[in-house]
Amino acid sequence: ALEVPEFEFLRYEVAEGIAWVTFTRPKALNALAADVLREIAEVTEVIAEDPEVKVAVFTGEGKAFVAGADISEINALKDVFIGREFALAGQEVMNHIAALPVPTIAAINGYALGGGLELALACDLRVAATKAKLGLPEVGLGLIPGFGGTQRLPRLVGVGRAFDLILTGRHVPAEEALALGLVNRVADDAVAAARELAQAIMKNSPVALALAKEAVARGADVPLPEALEIEADLFGMTVTTHDMREGTAAFLEKRAPEFKGE
Ligand code: CAA
Repeated sequence: ALEVPEFEFLRYEVAEGIAWVTFTRPKALNALAADVLREIAEVTEVIAEDPEVKVAVFTGEGKAFVAGADISEINALKDVFIGREFALAGQEVMNHIAALPVPTIAAINGYALGGGLELALACDLRVAATKAKLGLPEVGLGLIPGFGGTQRLPRLVGVGRAFDLILTGRHVPAEEALALGLVNRVADDAVAAARELAQAIMKNSPVALALAKEAVARGADVPLPEALEIEADLFGMTVTTHDMREGTAAFLEKRAPEFKGE
């Protein structure tokens, strides 16, 4: 059986194909202290190795999703190299989330600020509670976003909209985040909405989901002609799978497909 480490700052549960990662330090608004980041890196390894997991959802306990990196830890940083290492270490954790083979959803139950929004940006999809507030307030602290925000936000919503958030540092309400394309859904209960979204995703072929995710992720980093080649390569891989035979046959036979994920 899969060995799951003991976590102090998060809870890990798998139910009906969904891995739930819940941040459990509500007193500090789930701020990403170094120890928390270490556990997030560990949990991504568990998710990647767990064959039961079809979709992963990240969410927070209490009034915050995650209120950012730990400001007291940042306050203690004094050296340019250590500052750089701090950012690189956080970026690496976000990269682990982005590189997960299964679709990922941030269920933004409350504040997603700074490193918390950056974590949500590393997920494939974002569902926000009606009362959630999202933002990159770093410049108000004399900082800039350092866990990927200056890069993933403009890639997601465009440079102009990203500048608005990054230069004002304002807290964006969920409904506005939806209009900006920053989140995919808004619902009173972000967790319930994330579960519904996960269930809709899980109706599809797991192998196709993994290849689709890989095509989007790898294509985003390269020029279009190369990106289209990546798409063609991965499309090519789908045609040899059981799931493609089954999915197309089921369509033609007017029945529901039974995917195996291979
Ligand atoms: N780091 C450390 N502690 C934090 C924290 C953070 N990012 N966010 C909140 N906390 C702590 C508060 O200090 C407070 O602790 P105490 O009870 O010990 O005083 C506790 O969590 C509860 O917070 P508040 O009392 O402030 O709660 P509130 O409801 O009044 O305000 C809030 C909520 C508007 C989210 C406010 O907490 C806030 O502005 N938090 C900081 C948000 C922020 O600036 N995030 C960016 C961090 S920098 C970063 O992330 C850099 C990067 O890109 C890597």
